[in-house]
Amino acid sequence: MMSDVKEILITAEQIEAKVKEIAEQISRDYRDKSPVLVGVLNGAFVFLADLVRHLDVDCTIDFVSWASYGKDTSSSGVFRIMKDLETNVESKHVLIVEDIIDTGLTLHYLLDTVRARKPASIRVAALLDKPSRRRIEARADYLGFQVPDAFVVGYGLDFAQRYRNLPCIGVLKPEIYAGRGTPPDELETT
Ligand code: IMP
Ligand code: MG
Repeated sequence: MMSDVKEILITAEQIEAKVKEIAEQISRDYRDKSPVLVGVLNGAFVFLADLVRHLDVDCTIDFVSWASYGKDTSSSGVFRIMKDLETNVESKHVLIVEDIIDTGLTLHYLLDTVRARKPASIRVAALLDKPSRRRIEARADYLGFQVPDAFVVGYGLDFAQRYRNLPCIGVLKPEIYAGRGTPPDELETT
């Protein structure tokens, strides 16, 4: 697997230190608040799993799964909820946990959807941010790292559903991206 990686952008050790730092900040901000953490499947599962083990607050955990049409995930801006929240978040403090903010479309529409359910507050924790790709306003209240405009994999992030299990964040060799694109009209979970 690692032989498919051209360059490591963020090491496992750097991620671990940053996740701990974010968790400490969230623990301070949400003391006595019992937040509902909402992981965005599939990409955020690793970040969420590591984050919650460093959180020192009473919390519950739920997941949503969105799908967007297109090879360039979310570029179409057409979303479908594949798995909705199981929690009624009305009057609750919601913390959305995302792997990466790219165009911002996923987060923008997810925030709209959750906001309509009248939570007491809503914030976003994202491991990665690619600000150069933004097409609509979206920002994280808690952010791990900014990354350049390159397609990254690892620590939950996939290319064609693979490489999620890499412990670091990296960029694949160009021949890998070239060989296995997904069909442009395929429905893809993020
Ligand atoms: P956005 O809607 O464009 O902000 O991005 C939504 C989703 O696309 C993210 O939650 C990721 O799952 C996926 N994504 C965006 N950029 C990358 C990347 O560089 N690698 C892997 N997945 C990505
Ligand atoms: Mg995602």
